[in-house]
Amino acid sequence: MAKIEIVLGDITKSQVDAIVNAANTSLLGGGGVDGAIHRAAGPALLAACRPLNGCATGEAKLTPGFRLPAKYVVHTPGPIWRGGQHHERTLLANSYRNSLTLAAAHGCQTVAFPSISTGVYHFPLELAAEIALRTLQETAATTAKSVQLIQIVCFDDQTKKAYEIALAALSA
Ligand code: APR
Repeated sequence: MAKIEIVLGDITKSQVDAIVNAANTSLLGGGGVDGAIHRAAGPALLAACRPLNGCATGEAKLTPGFRLPAKYVVHTPGPIWRGGQHHERTLLANSYRNSLTLAAAHGCQTVAFPSISTGVYHFPLELAAEIALRTLQETAATTAKSVQLIQIVCFDDQTKKAYEIALAALSA
């Protein structure tokens, strides 16, 4: 059963087999963590993304990590929060489930996630944290049994606190 850790940091520095990118459906880069990952990986990442022809919300596609310490990047567009009546919860769960499953299928034993959709996409943080952790725990026990360590890499204290509270509630 995978260990789930909540850490504060910059995911572009994560020394893991795969990092997950909170992308958009074009897969052609953007701001936030997407921009940071592309800057750190170098231009070869965009070149590898172009032929992928984008990615639907909640789906996941894998590329090499290039200049990143991580061997792979798993790109997943999370949902934009539109008030909660547009299947946002399911789509966010799909992003976590499909990303972890895809990483496991490529032999990754350690995987780092950012807090998908809680930045530019305005998904409520506490709700996102609960969905993320519940989905990761379920997936680690079913379609990603080979994954040993899952890290949620939080970029600020508020995000880290929300995920720590959600993790504690999961284990309670
Ligand atoms: N390491 C870890 N987390 C980071 C980093 C980083 N280097 N940079 C930003 N973050 C955090 C943000 O603080 C936020 O908590 O990632 C989380 C997700 O925020 P966004 O990057 O804005 O992603 P998201 O809300 O999913 O919106 C995706 O933004 O950047 C564009 O191209 C992207 O259109 C897409 C949209």
